[in-house]
Amino acid sequence: MPDKESPTADQHEPTLFEWAGGLPALTRMTRLFYSKHVPEDPLIGPLFANMSPDHPERVAAWLGEVFGGPKNYTEQYGGYTRMVSQHLGKGLTEAQRARWVSLLCRSADEAGLPADAEFRAAFVSYLEWGSRLALENSQPGARPPMHMPVPRWWWVCDAKPGSRISALAPAADAAHAVAVPGANEAVTFTRHIKPLFRKMDRDSMSFVFDLWSHSDVRTHAPEILKRLENGTMPCDGAWPREKVDLFRRWIDSGTVEG
Ligand code: HEM
Repeated sequence: MPDKESPTADQHEPTLFEWAGGLPALTRMTRLFYSKHVPEDPLIGPLFANMSPDHPERVAAWLGEVFGGPKNYTEQYGGYTRMVSQHLGKGLTEAQRARWVSLLCRSADEAGLPADAEFRAAFVSYLEWGSRLALENSQPGARPPMHMPVPRWWWVCDAKPGSRISALAPAADAAHAVAVPGANEAVTFTRHIKPLFRKMDRDSMSFVFDLWSHSDVRTHAPEILKRLENGTMPCDGAWPREKVDLFRRWIDSGTVEG
């Protein structure tokens, strides 16, 4: 499982399956759901009274596949067609659907699935989407397409682990010391300026320019300096004066690449 503090360190974007904790975590969740919450719930309990003994493992396998894990449900249990056929004719109600989702979310908490905002946004968005399809497919006369691929879910709107600064993260300054060059030393982009910009800074500005590119930073240097001086960049806190001075010194000495 990836390091939850710095998932982007090796540029690998974890799948939802990996972030959830893989099949063991999903199975822990579905077992809790079907053995503890479902049987004692008057609204949805009766729906599962005759479920197959391995139903929790089947649903975990489905979710694992949807969340980017191995295609176990397709290979072992019959894939999309089997899943859809299981909801046909059940005549589910909106109240049952909503209860199914809320109890599964409670099971996710109890099973210790990650509770970070990014994971839960993606997790719940799939449960909402999938459960509404199950509801629709279960209605009398419904004719769902029978041979579709298993959906593959992803993070929501680029809200991935590490894509934002946590309000509980250590202060930016403490995490990022500056190597100030000596008075007679040339200030260069490669050695002194580029390291001032964190990956986070680079990602958040990537829609306009690349903060790790010498030519981009040179081109936009006056605007960047202005934002650094008035403290509106980076968005999680103004740079200390020594960093802003260093950036200005680099501009004044000719924006050398180095
Ligand atoms: C994202 C939403 C959902 C997913 C991923 C899901 C997943 C599945 C899967 C994979 C199966 C087939 C398992 C097998 O291979 O036998 C299944 C069956 C079933 N599902 Fe769902 N389901 C969802 C929503 C719902 C909802 C909202 C309800 C009812 C409130 C529901 C009720 C059932 C029932 C009654 C069965 C048949 C159980 C049995 O008798 O074996 N499902 N579901």
